[in-house]
Amino acid sequence: MVEPVPTAKPVCALCAGEGFTFQQREDRGIAAACSCTVHCPSCHGQGRLYARDERGYEVLRGCGCGADPRRLSLLTGLRLPTKFLARTLGGYRAYSPAQQRSLLRARRFVDEFVPGASGQRALLFCGPPGTGKTHLLSGMLRELAARKGVRGRFEEFFLLLSDIRDGFSRGLSSREWLEPLRQVDVLAIDEIGKGGKNRDFEQGILDEILSVRYNAGRPTLLATNYPRPGTVGWEFKADGQSAENLEQRVGPRIYSRLHEMCDLMDVLGDDQREVQHDARQARDSAADAPARGTRPARS
Ligand SMILES: Nc1ncnc2c1ncn2[C@@H]1O[C@H](COP(=O)(O)OP(=O)(O)OP(=O)(O)O)[C@@H](O)[C@H]1O
Ligand SMILES: [Mg+2]
Ligand SMILES: [Zn+2]
Ligand SMILES: [Zn+2]
Repeated sequence: MVEPVPTAKPVCALCAGEGFTFQQREDRGIAAACSCTVHCPSCHGQGRLYARDERGYEVLRGCGCGADPRRLSLLTGLRLPTKFLARTLGGYRAYSPAQQRSLLRARRFVDEFVPGASGQRALLFCGPPGTGKTHLLSGMLRELAARKGVRGRFEEFFLLLSDIRDGFSRGLSSREWLEPLRQVDVLAIDEIGKGGKNRDFEQGILDEILSVRYNAGRPTLLATNYPRPGTVGWEFKADGQSAENLEQRVGPRIYSRLHEMCDLMDVLGDDQREVQHDARQARDSAADAPARGTRPARS
């Protein structure tokens, strides 16, 4: 007699097996347990279960199925940009050798990261628009939180500057706005160098953030459109300004600190926004064109 072949448990189509999904509420992404977790044989959707610790005491632990409320609040706390709520490292494609290197390095960071351990090098992704730098930062934070319970936070530099200006005008001290940025295990700051006219202010803020994080031994993940000095093949100009490299944009002091703290990764490749736009247009014009050979025959 033939034993029935054990069928693999089907992967949930809603959450791809992660056990949670992000729901968009206004401009925020709120993580919620996926409905599939009610079938979790360990916690039945409660997200927590009793376990014994090393000393034999009974303790309440988070379940790995995705319904753990602490894990969900870490994911919500990432404050990922809403367009990137569904972006994962698994969904990042290496269209170029540089993207392959960046993806592998991003994965290595996630695999090796231990909160509180010293000597962990941060990453700085440099590249032209649309090569997936924000995708990589979001995917890393998401995976760190979901898999390892790491407290992370995403900030876009330009928006952060305006929050800080608001804070100052409400009388907040620099300690007060810095503290939450200092505390998270991994901070990601996207689009460094993007700013306005007040360079001294922008550089001062970046310097303060990088310094407090460095002194606290916590890594900061960064991305920028500005190339590192000596890069050939692409340049970056802010609106109405001449081309600059990253060292010129952030100043030699911060650039040298970045070098000391981070592995600089070039993320070069085609602009995926353009590629996706061209593919959409090609699809639309194929759909609009009358399908050849299927026209009703004239009588
Ligand atoms: N290598 C890739 N694999 C899968 N999707 C990608 C890849 N690169 C870019 N994308 C997708 O293309 C879009 C643009 O990518 P993203 O915003 O991450 O680029 P970026 O490098 O941050 O651009 P910018 O410098 O303009 O901020 C996103 O929807 C992203 O998910
Ligand atoms: Mg980006
Ligand atoms: Zn599910
Ligand atoms: Zn469970």
